Amino acid sequence: MRFSGIVIAALGAVAVSAALLAPHIQGRQYKTTASQRLSLQWLRGNSSLPKVLVLYTGGTIAGGSIYGALDDTQYGQLSLTGEQIIARNPYLLNHTQLAVSNWTSSEGSTGTSDSLVMNMTRFAHDALCSEDSDIDGAIYTHGTNSLEETAFLLDLLVNCGKPIVGVGAMRPWTHLSFDGDANFFDGAVLAAHPDARNRGVMVAFNSRIIPGFWVTKQYSTNPDAFGATATGDLGAFINNKPYFYNTPSQPNAKHQFSLSLISNSSFSPSLPKVDILYAARQFSGKLVLDAYSDGASGVVIAGTGNGGIPNGQEEIALALEKGLQIVVGTRSPFGPSTPSRVPTYAKSGFVHVVQARIMLQLAIASGYTMNDTIVLFEKGLRDAIGQPFVPAV
Ligand SMILES: *[C@@H]1O[C@H](CO)[C@@H](O)[C@H](O)[C@H]1NC(C)=O
Ligand SMILES: *[C@@H]1O[C@H](CO)[C@@H](O)[C@H](O)[C@H]1NC(C)=O
Ligand SMILES: *[C@@H]1O[C@H](CO)[C@@H](O)[C@H](O)[C@H]1NC(C)=O
Ligand SMILES: *[C@@H]1O[C@H](CO)[C@@H](O)[C@H](O)[C@H]1NC(C)=O
Ligand SMILES: *[C@@H]1O[C@H](CO)[C@@H](O)[C@H](O)[C@H]1NC(C)=O
Ligand SMILES: *[C@@H]1O[C@H](CO)[C@@H](O)[C@H](O)[C@H]1NC(C)=O
Repeated sequence: MRFSGIVIAALGAVAVSAALLAPHIQGRQYKTTASQRLSLQWLRGNSSLPKVLVLYTGGTIAGGSIYGALDDTQYGQLSLTGEQIIARNPYLLNHTQLAVSNWTSSEGSTGTSDSLVMNMTRFAHDALCSEDSDIDGAIYTHGTNSLEETAFLLDLLVNCGKPIVGVGAMRPWTHLSFDGDANFFDGAVLAAHPDARNRGVMVAFNSRIIPGFWVTKQYSTNPDAFGATATGDLGAFINNKPYFYNTPSQPNAKHQFSLSLISNSSFSPSLPKVDILYAARQFSGKLVLDAYSDGASGVVIAGTGNGGIPNGQEEIALALEKGLQIVVGTRSPFGPSTPSRVPTYAKSGFVHVVQARIMLQLAIASGYTMNDTIVLFEKGLRDAIGQPFVPAV
């Protein structure tokens, strides 16, 4: 007993002297930080404030018009960099530290491709979720037309509890009432806020805090453009400070995919091609086969009502046989596409068609079969209504 006590004391002394005398062989604090490793330049400011990474894809928030202060549809001739947007607002660097990472494409933010957004997602994951991360959260600026697609993608792939907030603008900065400065500020303050952790991706828009899983552009031109399709807002900005009046959104259908697995797939750096078709009277099932011929791995159909397809069943069966995966959502703005008794393809439940496309892309890239995809989309709702699907093994 006595002997082992001495050994422990001696080991303790070795550990202490190692800490005092040989700091270079001690742990983490002597390694580089994610900021250093990724060459992030933190803009001049107060170094005790939270660090928020700005993933900058541009969008209307970066756009100006040569047609005057009343134009909010024909802009885009003038542009701002992320650094210029930050410089416009003297409050920003008094609340956060900011570093810009550029993810712009030559076609502007509406031209963001799957591959560009996936590269940005990998970067965000590395910056926020690596062991050496010294960053508190991130915002991404985005064209509002596809802001929800990137919100959903990030929500399903980056999940280490740090806030990621989508921001944008509906009016160009040359407009007499530009909304981008306030949205950008709100997003940055939200991403820096401790209460914003473990809430998934969020969108800060028009003083609203909207969950990234459910967010959809609901109005095509006005500044109150975004809302959730199957839940309420999480909170609001009051005096530009976030106030959460709801608990975190925990969507039943949310599935966390492995970014590493998807990045190792043959589709990487991009994602499998999945097209969206819109059903209406006289729907042509041939479109499904055409998508397959054009290289699609999957098709999402915006079905009628709770996920009906008026015709084309033969072509759909043929496409499934060829290995095309099919998910049917609803063209209705609200409500689910409900499971079939004997499914051959998936019904998307409450997941909207635009988001269902991304979920199907991630499922295919993760190696899911059609049956796995049916379970992925339908299990929660099937369990709730007592209508199980048990695929043969
Ligand atoms: C820097 O931020 C900290 C934390 O908010 C604050 O206490 C301090 O006064 C700030 N320093 C300056 C120079 O503004
Ligand atoms: C930002 O902080 C500095 C230093 O504390 C202060 O002088 C300045 O007035 C602040 N700016 C704004 C816009 O609040
Ligand atoms: C981002 O791109 C803009 C425009 O090209 C450039 O001015 C800025 O320095 C870039 N920022 C970083 C951090 O690379
Ligand atoms: C994404 O990253 C890969 C390298 O990892 C690169 O080859 C590809 O060009 C990038 N895609 C885009 C759109 O930037
Ligand atoms: C992806 O590939 C890397 C490098 O080969 C490997 O370390 C990693 O485990 C793979 N990830 C998965 C989920 O298979
Ligand atoms: C999918 O499940 C159904 C129903 O159990 C079964 O008939 C079919 O063979 C399964 N298909 C595959 C590819 O496993």
